[in-house]
Amino acid sequence: MKQNNWIPRKDSPGKRAVLLTGGAGFIGSHTYVALKQAGYEVIIVDNFSNALEDTPERLQQLTGSKVICYADDLLDRSAIRRIFDNHPIDAVIHFAAKKSVAESTTAPLVYYENNVSGLIGLLEEMRRASVFNLVFSSSATVYGSPETLPVRENAALSSTNPYGFTKLVCENVLSDLQKFDPRWNVGILRYFNPVGAHSSGLIGESTTGIPDNLMPYIAKVATGELPFLRVFGADYDTLDGTGVRDYIHVMDLAEGHVLSLEELLDGAGSHIVNLGTGRGYSVLEMLKSYETACGRTLPYQVMPRRPGDVGEVVADPANANALLGFEAKRDLDHMSKTSWNWMLQRMD
Ligand code: WQD
Repeated sequence: MKQNNWIPRKDSPGKRAVLLTGGAGFIGSHTYVALKQAGYEVIIVDNFSNALEDTPERLQQLTGSKVICYADDLLDRSAIRRIFDNHPIDAVIHFAAKKSVAESTTAPLVYYENNVSGLIGLLEEMRRASVFNLVFSSSATVYGSPETLPVRENAALSSTNPYGFTKLVCENVLSDLQKFDPRWNVGILRYFNPVGAHSSGLIGESTTGIPDNLMPYIAKVATGELPFLRVFGADYDTLDGTGVRDYIHVMDLAEGHVLSLEELLDGAGSHIVNLGTGRGYSVLEMLKSYETACGRTLPYQVMPRRPGDVGEVVADPANANALLGFEAKRDLDHMSKTSWNWMLQRMD
């Protein structure tokens, strides 16, 4: 049994404090809400490079309590050190990283510096502050194009792009750290395809620019900001020929982070789990679901396959369920409805 290094703090015995790096971003802001609901104290540090400026105000409106948020860059070591010096922190959930496959191929060094050097600097500041509980945001992209489906955590790991490699390198850094220093408790969460938004419509995925990912792109077709959906390939070996993915509602994902954190703080030890639903949906199924949500037919055109894409990637979430008691509860229609509600509020 791992040494449980969580000790109730003098100023608020029983209340645990968690630092969210990238906590104003898409997954981070939803995890903030889930943590507050679970009774945690939460501190955000975010450089707002991929987050709405008024996210802290929106979170304050949602949770009814003051938001502690530092607008700092993870690479600014003195700023990160100051946060640890000013707040007794029990654990860190690390979201702050660049995450676009396409962008990573044009700026690999930026990805390695942000994602790998950023993690190493954070770990050094955590060790200096004697904080050894970390939940790490990883991705199904570390599976490359999986041999067997659904994907289990012991599947072969590989990647064809710099972004995916940074996630692989970070996972190796963390596994070596735990191997040689038993004080560390690490939860590695491999997200499949996070989509949707909080049901209030107050927080959601950043919608600036032209999205790479499917649901935010469909959302902009639904608002009329984009003319039609490009369906990248309809000749895959799937039920309707279009790509199949394991979409998971962002609030299910957020709640999965709370379960991972509890596992670490309760001293049950480190884990690596897939966070997916175990159910895949095709591009056309997603499009149909969004048409129901927005109440109109959405135009699309079949295009050639996107380089690097595979036909089907679906998680086997059995390990997350057995280890953490994780089970995704929200279905595809809820994902589309909450995404559409977020888009409508954004347009007001
Ligand atoms: C889903 C399906 C496309 C857009 C990526 C990253 C992964 C993770 C999640 C960070 C595929 C098709 C898409 C469009 C389409 N991100 N599609 N038209 O590629 O599974 O995963 O995002 O961790 O690392 O690789 O997600 O949403 O881009 O694509 O037809 O305009 O939708 O071909 O089949 P993907 P996606």
